[in-house]
Amino acid sequence: MNVFATDASARLYEHAKFMGQRHIAQLFQEDPNRFQKLSFELDELLVDFAKQRLSTETLQHLCQLAEEKALKRWIKRLFNGEKINTSENRPALHTALRTPIDQSLLLDGTDVIQQVHENLDRMSRLVECIHSEQWLGCTGTPINTLVNIGVGGSDLGPFMACKALGEFSSPASEKLEIHFVSSMDGSHLSSLLSKLDPTRTLFVISSKSFTTIDTLANAETAREWLKRAEVHAEMDESLIIKRHFIGVSASPQRMVDWGIPESNHLYFWEWTGGRYSMWSTIGLPIALRIGMEGFRDMLAGAHVMDCHFRDTPFTENLPVLLALVGIWNINFLNITAHAILPYDGRLSHLPSYLEQLEMESNGKSTTRHNDQVNYHTCPILWGEIGTNAQHAFYQLLHQGTVPVMCDFITSAKRYEAPGHEELKHQHQLNLSNCLAQSQILALGDTVIKDADQAPAYKRYRGNQPCTTLLMQRLSPYTFGMLIALYEHKVFVQSVIWDINPFDQWGVELGKTIATGLLPALTQEQACEALDSSTLGLIRHINR
Ligand code: F6P
Repeated sequence: MNVFATDASARLYEHAKFMGQRHIAQLFQEDPNRFQKLSFELDELLVDFAKQRLSTETLQHLCQLAEEKALKRWIKRLFNGEKINTSENRPALHTALRTPIDQSLLLDGTDVIQQVHENLDRMSRLVECIHSEQWLGCTGTPINTLVNIGVGGSDLGPFMACKALGEFSSPASEKLEIHFVSSMDGSHLSSLLSKLDPTRTLFVISSKSFTTIDTLANAETAREWLKRAEVHAEMDESLIIKRHFIGVSASPQRMVDWGIPESNHLYFWEWTGGRYSMWSTIGLPIALRIGMEGFRDMLAGAHVMDCHFRDTPFTENLPVLLALVGIWNINFLNITAHAILPYDGRLSHLPSYLEQLEMESNGKSTTRHNDQVNYHTCPILWGEIGTNAQHAFYQLLHQGTVPVMCDFITSAKRYEAPGHEELKHQHQLNLSNCLAQSQILALGDTVIKDADQAPAYKRYRGNQPCTTLLMQRLSPYTFGMLIALYEHKVFVQSVIWDINPFDQWGVELGKTIATGLLPALTQEQACEALDSSTLGLIRHINR
């Protein structure tokens, strides 16, 4: 199945023969107005594609490709709540999670926008109760520490956002310590528990399915720890759970079965994909960190991006262009590695968040019609705070043999507020590095005089395509815009590749096999049908 057997694709293949021979430095020499032509703005976000190996003509062909792939119709289907997650027979309605209350969207006779806002209000009351120190542990002491137990989409989004937006804490939220625990082996949790006060700790069990073994194993350890605490001796287990556990899930019954009473439930829905869920009640830790007002600002930023994505012509549509530029690199220039480089320490968890968002969504090789693809889909994505990565893997970006497309993400302004002047210089230093690195990666050593006199080991060939995403400031609002931008980018690419980005069947078999292997670690006779490597390793472990 070749989704690229279309008229626009034929033009793009032809065009790529020409552009593939060009160096980005040459493109800048030929056209001094590249920035004006190839950078696009929405509100407080600017995206610059001028350091990509493309021209306005490339973008035109790519937009035609999107037309041929009926992208407009797919966007409509996404927003209308059609069941476009066909393998699970569900809509993917993360856009509804940030739609204002004065709108409505009927799904099987229910207005999901009203449902969303009822749950936001419920979350808001909970946030208020914890911030005002009215949530008491079972000895009557106010809670001052929250531990989010979750994994994947039930961990990465809130974890990233709390780190990114910590500066927006209110005095009430600053008093609360927030931790994230995800590792299945319990190492995150055990290193934390020894430092926590059981009388003042509240655990949030975040799991859409409430069946994820990683999360349930950590939850069980937390419950045992609370039960074993001396201050809780003689106390009823149900009281301990009521005062020290909140459940966030799309499966109320499983929360009840685990022991969490209904009063401590927050809900979201099957139509919210795990990796698209930080806008739902899964975002409770975010709301606790930055307050409900900040959380609603984040939703507002995402909503602005949603409206822009839904209503703007492709030629000026940021998520569409970001996606199409990726398609150009991956499918026409054969670049299948993608580095995410935030020049902002607050965005340190953005790369791992995007790893899940992009690779769990589009890391697939069968189409919606169950055909094998014969083209590349999701690239390998990885990243790190840009300035730290400069001292780690930039050597490969500059002088290695692998072509890599790079996203530079930063903000123009920081530390203007009185009392932060001492850091202003560091922000400028950071910006100058961000600009210098994208310049060298794209243009190579043509940016310095007499570079061609240098020995080969000192040369920088450049021609690595770079996009710069520049926020005016990092705030809950611009952060919401940024994440929604990437979500929609992923959707657009899935449409071009004809794959379903909302399921993740590729991770299921590992869970089944692991469950089957568990007995083999304790009973030798359960090992018989295994391959020699797995068997050998088990015997070595059990020795
Ligand atoms: O195993 C993958 C996955 O299903 C992700 O898609 C999801 O975000 C994560 O596990 C956690 O799932 P849950 O929220 O149901 O615990």
